Amino acid sequence: MWGLKMIHILKTKNWKGPFSKQEQEDAVVALEGGAVLYFPSLPFGLEPDETILLSPHYSHPKSKNIGYDLKSRKVTGVQGTEEATPSFESMLDRYATNTKILLEAILPQYQKYLERGRTSYRPVEIAGRQSSYRKDDTRLHIDAFPSSPVQGKRILRVFTNINPHDQSRFWRLGEPFSKVAERFLPHCPHPLPGSQWFLERLCITKTQRTPYDHYMLQLHNRMKADEIYQKEAEQQEFSFPPQSTWIVYTDLTSHAAMQGQYALEQTYYLPMDGMNSPELAPLKILEKALGRPLL
Ligand code: SIN
Ligand code: FE
Repeated sequence: MWGLKMIHILKTKNWKGPFSKQEQEDAVVALEGGAVLYFPSLPFGLEPDETILLSPHYSHPKSKNIGYDLKSRKVTGVQGTEEATPSFESMLDRYATNTKILLEAILPQYQKYLERGRTSYRPVEIAGRQSSYRKDDTRLHIDAFPSSPVQGKRILRVFTNINPHDQSRFWRLGEPFSKVAERFLPHCPHPLPGSQWFLERLCITKTQRTPYDHYMLQLHNRMKADEIYQKEAEQQEFSFPPQSTWIVYTDLTSHAAMQGQYALEQTYYLPMDGMNSPELAPLKILEKALGRPLL
């Protein structure tokens, strides 16, 4: 998997598709193999009264994104008083629904397994943003969450560029996961006995950090910390223009977001049972390399 094969193009202009059986099968194979499913013209329209939300000023300086939890209908990461701040809920809720409709259409075999995670709005320009190296998404990485262990579930994300000024979102896409593991896994310390229990008791993690979560976080941190790797690893730039949408397994596909402002994103979790080819999952690749189960 390299070069143009990393981008699997689907030309629909409609979130509902329709997609043929062949398109659905090809899409799941490409996605699980590490490709980005790219919809060059699949726009998300704002209502006239929502264009006011296209400003970085409502975003709290301490959080990277404005977040939305579907279950509680709570929006987080907004600064300012409630009266002086427009509501983000309706836009985020509608985006969440659109992504659900899209996944139903293009990946029907995931349907009964997918769990919906958070929705996010990313109104701050990426380039020049200050952050610690671990939070710096301009460095190639695979996604792993320090406080929210996934316990073996896959992280599947849908993004849409809603930039109103014709500004693309620039990414870099890195080498295949097996190569990342080959390079960094030998340097990862094993989890300390009892550390999972300890992290959970101290509320550093919301649930137990499994050995799988431990190694994924180690890979995430070590990739980001390695300046030489960042420059020299096999990689390709790709820009997502306004009104384009893309779907990617961010726990599998090495990525870095270099530049861009105003994107929407919806996270999904897929239990391993829902996969078409489970052997392609980071869990299976790491278990094979380490010669033991990680859950
Ligand atoms: C990331 O997941 O690393 C950031 C992606 C983006 O905001 O475009
Ligand atoms: Fe990421």
